[in-house]
Amino acid sequence: MLSDWVSFGYLISAILFVMGLKKLGHPRTAPKGNQYGMMGMAVAVLTTVIDMNYLPDGIVGWTIIGSGLIIGSLIGYIMAVKVEMTGMPELVALFNGFGGAASALVALSETWKWIETTSPESGLATTVAVIAAGLSALVGWMTLTGSLLAMYKLKGGIEVFGKWIRTPTWGPTWLNPVKGLLFISVLALIYLSIEDPTNTDYIWAIIAISCLLGIILVLPIGGADMPVVVSLLNSLSGIAAAFTGFIINNSVLIVAGSLVGASGLILTVIMCKAMNRQLIDVLFKSFGGSEKQELTRTKAGTDAEEVAMMADGAQKIIIVPGYGMAVSQCQHQVKEFADLMADKFGTEIKYAIHPVAGRMPGHMNVLLAEANVPYEQLIEMDEINPEFPECDMAIVIGANDTCNPAARTGEGPLAGMPIIDADQANTVVIIKRSLSVGYAGVDNDLFYEDKTMMLFGDGKAMMTQLNSAIKEL
Ligand code: TAP
Repeated sequence: MLSDWVSFGYLISAILFVMGLKKLGHPRTAPKGNQYGMMGMAVAVLTTVIDMNYLPDGIVGWTIIGSGLIIGSLIGYIMAVKVEMTGMPELVALFNGFGGAASALVALSETWKWIETTSPESGLATTVAVIAAGLSALVGWMTLTGSLLAMYKLKGGIEVFGKWIRTPTWGPTWLNPVKGLLFISVLALIYLSIEDPTNTDYIWAIIAISCLLGIILVLPIGGADMPVVVSLLNSLSGIAAAFTGFIINNSVLIVAGSLVGASGLILTVIMCKAMNRQLIDVLFKSFGGSEKQELTRTKAGTDAEEVAMMADGAQKIIIVPGYGMAVSQCQHQVKEFADLMADKFGTEIKYAIHPVAGRMPGHMNVLLAEANVPYEQLIEMDEINPEFPECDMAIVIGANDTCNPAARTGEGPLAGMPIIDADQANTVVIIKRSLSVGYAGVDNDLFYEDKTMMLFGDGKAMMTQLNSAIKEL
């Protein structure tokens, strides 16, 4: 009877997960999608807790489960409340790592039980259980160390005794055969574990090699390719969970893990496509190096009044938001500018959204939605690009790499990444604090073009000045 209720609980949570994923497909429905996901997880946790407590041998008491839930929820809550919008990728990377580690630890504890009882409890044949445990350890520990390194790379370095030490990007070509060799040795160790499942040396060796693999997989990846890696690690954390689900015979873990694994992989492929990268190149060619280019050129800046005068009479303006908009949190001022222009001059306003603008997928959509920008005005890169030649003005707010023409050349960290064609507009206004480079560290020719006006300053301050100047026209 209880097992029927448990299956029913798991079915409900699986349905909620699938519905949540579906809703996440559009910015308008994404908040609902998040709520469905949270409800699904709550049902899954509750069902598992009830199931565990009524098992014949009552695995653990309520005290341990309750304390774990309270401490875990508190840590999650504090981290989520404290994190800045711009720090989200680091937090996601960290959560991916924790997810991988949690799965690997559960798999490890199960393995320990077999060693004591010499047979897997899940009822799986020993061979299948050992393979699943080995793969869970490989993917889980690799995800933990890879994600921690990715997090520090996204942060820009590691703080030691109050000093920031830049996380290195290092990947000589001989490292690739080493990765292959380590991977094969883990598979060999899993094979040996099948022969002798109680030998703990194999388990420790699998864990050590997997941790090393995570580090040397992420070490060579830098610059613009980090988002792809974080998304791939997210997928791996799901796969580790699915393997663990097999080991402990938990259907909801298999379903949730597979959903995370599959959706993370789809996102990885979408991002690779958006950046014109092959996944294999990202992982093995040490592409987007993170060394910053030296700046040798100068350009005089303009002021808000001059930009306002240029904007006066513009029939069509395309706004190109980027990471700097997220840093300065000027999305409300941007929306005010759009409203002013539409009301005062009847200007058509659109927003050009690059898939990797900002620091997380959908970053610009989230910020602009928060400022109540109508969804119809947010246009994806491929759709908006043909409109730039007929647009009077492109206003680039804190974007750099995503509209850097250097990406059209065959060299450098940005080579081949599709960009927003802001340089095709009649006039270009760029709002940023200096001429400095973006995330990929590449100087931007667009800043120095004759038709480009640089409005130097913090995004929010400049947009506020621009709005005042427009009001006075
Ligand atoms: P970036 O190329 O990173 O450039 C952002 C620019 O914003 C900087 O050049 C900076 O110039 C300016 N800025 C910073 N703070 C500002 C402020 N307070 N006010 C005004 N401007 C400010 O941005 P992008 O065009 O959005 O490109 C995103 C890059 O991040 C891509 O290379 C992408 O691959 C990478 N990335 C993306 C993601 C995802 S998933 N979206 C995740 C990780 C990395 P100043 O310092 O001169 O102001």
